[in-house]
Amino acid sequence: MTISFHLNGDRVDLSPEVAPTTTLLQYLRDQRGLTGTKEGCNEGDCGACTVMVTDPDSPQGVKALNACILFLPQLHGKSVRTVEGMAGPDGQMHPVQQAMVDQHGSQCGFCTPGFIASMVTAHMTGRKDHDTVLAGNLCRCTGYAPIVRAAQAAEGAAIPDWLTDTPPEVAASTLAPESSDELAAIYAAQPDATLIGGATDVGLWVTKQLRQLDRVIFTNRCADLKRIESGADTLRIGAAVTMAELLPTLKAHHPSYAAMVTRYGSEQVRQAATIGGNIANGSPIGDNPPALIALGATLHLRHGDTRREMPIEDFFLDYGKQDRAPGEFVEAVTIPKHAQRLACYKLSKRFDQDISAVLGCFNLSVEGGIVTGARIAFGGMAGIPKRAAHVEAALIGQPFDEAALARAAPEWSKDFAPMSDMRASADYRLAAARNMLRRYWLEAQGAATNVREVRA
Ligand SMILES: Cc1cc2nc3c(=O)[nH]c(=O)nc-3n(C[C@H](O)[C@H](O)[C@H](O)COP(=O)(O)OP(=O)(O)OC[C@H]3O[C@@H](n4cnc5c(N)ncnc54)[C@H](O)[C@@H]3O)c2cc1C
Ligand code: FES
Ligand code: FES
Repeated sequence: MTISFHLNGDRVDLSPEVAPTTTLLQYLRDQRGLTGTKEGCNEGDCGACTVMVTDPDSPQGVKALNACILFLPQLHGKSVRTVEGMAGPDGQMHPVQQAMVDQHGSQCGFCTPGFIASMVTAHMTGRKDHDTVLAGNLCRCTGYAPIVRAAQAAEGAAIPDWLTDTPPEVAASTLAPESSDELAAIYAAQPDATLIGGATDVGLWVTKQLRQLDRVIFTNRCADLKRIESGADTLRIGAAVTMAELLPTLKAHHPSYAAMVTRYGSEQVRQAATIGGNIANGSPIGDNPPALIALGATLHLRHGDTRREMPIEDFFLDYGKQDRAPGEFVEAVTIPKHAQRLACYKLSKRFDQDISAVLGCFNLSVEGGIVTGARIAFGGMAGIPKRAAHVEAALIGQPFDEAALARAAPEWSKDFAPMSDMRASADYRLAAARNMLRRYWLEAQGAATNVREVRA
């Protein structure tokens, strides 16, 4: 397969010999001498390798991505700009670069190219939520205040015309099928291949575990897998929809789920990570599954022309084991548009860019003060994302009052026997889960429970 993309305005056609698991960062630094893009962590955490990508297949259009966990075939039909391509043809600085100089936004400079790529992308898209945009870029010496001041100073400046990228026309490729029908046929014929969505997990298998992936298939060009379809009461979310693409829909229908997603990785991770990848990896600490279980989502799987569906909680069989046959893939997930009150609580050591220690999602229906339905699901409490069936049973048919919390209290340890690890001890996890139900109940009384929202 030939992989074609634009790099700083010039077309690149890579020969089929280039390994499909070559990362953009390796290519830039080792093969192109474009060493402005830095390697810090090589696992998506620090943002030193951030580049700007123009993606015609995404409603986001222009996005900041981490080059260290971005495989070259993911760029097929897209345009990339590195820090070397941000200045004008006569060397004039981008307004963001000038503002960084004016505001003293750089000291040792190691992180600066990554910050510039994130800030130029935000400038292109008119984003002004700089704290969120920059949460995935780590700076160890300057401090964030001058950097945020630089981003603010550049806000009103015109977008330089040299930055307008038109992605190239490209030929179809078996590595990157263009529809779920093509994907189904290729994957059924090569069931030992590794599917790759955003590569925010698989990228680390290669860069950190040094795994050799002999066959890979990318989902990011399957147009129908990138759609969110709105039905009368449901939303069908294609497996290749990224967390960033999902966010506006969640904000409209399930604001608490959306608020949780704004703390999912960083901007660069959300722009790459797909909902299909987050479900399929079966991680007990993935953030989407508990929310989807609490919503009563239906998972759609496909093998060749055969499709099946199941309640999403049935997909997670045991730690590292999901109900998915070789050659079968996640096609979509369907969620209801409305829930009486869905609340998602993500507990992690840091607010931004951190994996959950415990994630609790609560979706109770209360009619006339009595609990008529309950779906409560947790991540970080078992080897799989799991419902709190005993707690739910203790609540249903009873008044939703403080006594309900006491009645549910002994049930938590029947539902969960969590482990102790570096994120939290087992006792802490159980106490946190119990307290999340209390929080959900307090919020039903109108209490302010989020310290970040409490105002004097
Ligand atoms: C810095 C960083 C921060 C992170 N923060 C979070 C976080 O806050 N919360 C969180 O939940 N996760 C987090 N993650 C983990 C990761 O982002 C998620 O698990 C992500 O959703 C995976 O999606 P992906 O598209 O990148 O998957 P990939 O890496 O492409 O694939 C993951 C797995 O799913 C399989 N797969 C992909 N698509 C399909 C499909 N359609 N059908 C069947 N199998 C498929 C792959 O073969 C692989 O086994 C983080 C990762 C990084 C690097
Ligand atoms: S090198 Fe740290 S995110 Fe890529
Ligand atoms: S300027 Fe040194 S790490 Fe940011």
